[in-house]
Amino acid sequence: MLSPGTSVQALHERVRELREEMNAMILAHYYTVPEVQNVADVVGDSLALARAAESTGADVIVFAGVYFMAETAAILNPDKLVLMPDNRAGCPLADSCPVDEFREFKKLHPDALVITYINSSADIKAESDIVCTSSNAERIVSQIPSDRKIIFAPDRNLGTYVMKKLNREMILWEGCCYVHDAYRWEIIRESLEEHPGAKFIAHPECRDEVLVHADFVGSTGALLDYSEKTPASVLIVATEPGILYEMEKRSPDKIFIPAPKDSSSPSSVCTQMKQSTLEKLCECMELRRPRIEVDPALGEAALRPIRRMLEMS
Ligand code: 13P
Ligand code: SF4
Repeated sequence: MLSPGTSVQALHERVRELREEMNAMILAHYYTVPEVQNVADVVGDSLALARAAESTGADVIVFAGVYFMAETAAILNPDKLVLMPDNRAGCPLADSCPVDEFREFKKLHPDALVITYINSSADIKAESDIVCTSSNAERIVSQIPSDRKIIFAPDRNLGTYVMKKLNREMILWEGCCYVHDAYRWEIIRESLEEHPGAKFIAHPECRDEVLVHADFVGSTGALLDYSEKTPASVLIVATEPGILYEMEKRSPDKIFIPAPKDSSSPSSVCTQMKQSTLEKLCECMELRRPRIEVDPALGEAALRPIRRMLEMS
């Protein structure tokens, strides 16, 4: 058991020893804390992490992120041990789409194809035809014949963004991410006025009123690539500020400013992503729990739309 106050270095060493002993792979999302990102084998966006989970030869997957991400890794690997530092770290966007209500919603549009964002439970995935992430949503929807009705769930902002980009209607579930939905253009505009020449980049979970003003819109991975390639030296970033750690690492000469929010809005930090602390990461590997397990029949049903996504993107 860990003694309180164990140093970051000692925790990293212990995690590396355990990784060796267990033949484990550690996956971490860009929104997790830097100490966890620093010890991960792969740090990425939802799609990169799902791909890493799909192709790993490791016996154990340790997933530092939110529940639906580790659950997706478990669905892709029914025979592997999947651990999560804190299995109470859910995604409120995923939770905004309960399966009973979603089944009723689907009944209203029986002829629609169902595309769901990966930020959803295994139950919702099992009710879907294709899964998507923020980095491939546009590409996946663009492959569906234009006369086909589409239900898109649960993020209405990502759905609206894709509808506008492709100039096609979809039936949207009214969910949103509290972190991204709280940005307002009038506040961000003030920040841009204070930093003339800065580029403004945003995640597609932000509202349309924000996205229409962005110089670039993309998943966390795409925002990161853009931040490296742009000649601009100052960037205002509208997504969870955990991503700034990797942006600053890759472009140490640039200035990254988290897009501001109104003081009355909730914080821009995703508190769920921060539950994967280094201490809990180490402890879950020591104890081999909490394990993420998915009922085999449900896992099989949820795997089909995930596989379709991987084939289509
Ligand atoms: P990415 O697809 O960019 O990883 O987004 C995941 C997420 O939870 C964004 O809030
Ligand atoms: Fe869910 Fe939003 Fe946190 Fe992403 S940032 S995990 S969508 S609550």
